[in-house]
Amino acid sequence: MDHDLAGILVDERAIAGRVRELGAQLAADLERDLAREASGSDDFGKVVMIPVMTGAIVFVADLIRAMPMRLSLKLVAVSSYPGASVQSKGAKLAAEIPGDLAGKHVVVVDDILDSGQTLGLVRELIAAQNPASLRVCVLLRKPDCVRVRPVEVDYVGFEIPEEFVVGYGLDFDGHYRNVPHIATLRAEVVERVRRRSTRG
Ligand code: IMP
Ligand code: MG
Repeated sequence: MDHDLAGILVDERAIAGRVRELGAQLAADLERDLAREASGSDDFGKVVMIPVMTGAIVFVADLIRAMPMRLSLKLVAVSSYPGASVQSKGAKLAAEIPGDLAGKHVVVVDDILDSGQTLGLVRELIAAQNPASLRVCVLLRKPDCVRVRPVEVDYVGFEIPEEFVVGYGLDFDGHYRNVPHIATLRAEVVERVRRRSTRG
C-alpha cells in the first residue's frame, strides 16, 4: 500500500499532536458553555459529537479521547465522492440526520472542508433543530478559491494545498482510510483505479 503513495503532507506524529490540541480546545470551550448554563453536574447528554461518515471515523475516534468530559456520539452519513472520483459531485444525505438536538451543544466533525457542500448541508439541517450551540471542526481545509458553498468552520487542524489526499480516514474509491498519514497518491494508481471502476 505504501508504494501507492506519492508523498506525505502531514505525518502521523503531527496529526496526533494537533488532534490533542483541538480536543483540549474544544473541551475547554464546551465546558465554558456548560458552566454558563449553570447545569451543574446535570450535563449528561448535553454535548453531542456528530462525525460525518465515513471520512471522519478515524479523526473522531482520536478527537473524543482528547476530550475529558461527558459527551455522546451520533452519526451522520453523507456521500459526495461516489466511486473513483477526485472531485465533489454535490452532497447527498445517505441516512437520516440525527434528531433531538434542541438545547444540545453540538459539534460536527469532518475530515476535510473542500467545496463546502457536505458541511453546508449538515450545518443547515442541524441548525434548524435549534441546538444550544453548533460548532464545526475539520481536520483539513483546502483553499478552494471557488468554494461552492461558504461554510463557517470553528476549528481547523491543518490548511493543505488543493490536492487530492488520502489517509487518516480519507479514501479514494473506498481504499487508503487506514494510511496513518495524510498523503497524496501516485498518478498511475489513480488512473488504474479509475479504469477498473469504469469497467465494472
Ligand atoms: P465538500 O463537500 O466538497 O466540502 O467535500 C467534503 C467531503 O468530500 C469530505 O467529507 C470528504 O469525504 C470528501 N473529500 C474532499 N476532498 C477530499 C480529498 O482530497 N480526499 C478524499 N476525500 C475528500
Ligand atoms: Mg466525508
